[in-house]
Amino acid sequence: MTGFYQFYPNVVTLIGSRHGGRTNLMPAVWQTGISKNPMVYIVSISQKRFTHGLIKASGVFSANFVDFRYLRTVVRLGGCSGRDVDKIREFGIELGQHIQLDVPIVKLAYASFECSVQEIIPSGDHDLFVGRIAHVHEAEGLKGGSETIDCSAVKPILYLGKDTYLTVDTGSLITTE
Ligand SMILES: Cc1cc2nc3c(=O)[nH]c(=O)nc-3n(C[C@H](O)[C@H](O)[C@H](O)COP(=O)(O)O)c2cc1C
Repeated sequence: MTGFYQFYPNVVTLIGSRHGGRTNLMPAVWQTGISKNPMVYIVSISQKRFTHGLIKASGVFSANFVDFRYLRTVVRLGGCSGRDVDKIREFGIELGQHIQLDVPIVKLAYASFECSVQEIIPSGDHDLFVGRIAHVHEAEGLKGGSETIDCSAVKPILYLGKDTYLTVDTGSLITTE
């Protein structure tokens, strides 16, 4: 069967995990928010990922949203496993301060979520991690009270499948009220 990836493009996030002295990051595109009150965020992670075991063991994870200009680093983070490489050290990723949960916060991210695992739902070759958001980090200068990405200041990384990426064109912005 073909055509599965017709639901792309999706935003890419960096999922952060930490357990037993290991801290790790992996890109994930199968992710979204599913509840606002309470804030709930889900990400689908293959059982094969090192990240999967770390989150299962710790019960917490972070989701970090980074600008398109960091695409190369994101691709490199997705090209190897934390099982074999200390990716934080190898790629020189600076971590910031977490607030509520012991999860890695990517300093250059324009936003990060701290999540505690509410439920893990088996869903084929991936498991769905349902995360209750305990804290939202937003980069300084981006808070306009609008709750949405300020696309004049940051460009989200969008994934189209087949190792192809794009970002937004602010010329196409329309606000319908
Ligand atoms: C753009 C992109 C999106 C990805 N999305 C997912 C995803 O949603 N779920 C998943 O399990 N793996 C996804 N991957 C694959 C993992 O990021 C990759 O296998 C990574 O090396 C796993 O790292 P780990 O073993 O350190 O956890 C994605 C990779 C890339 C490059």
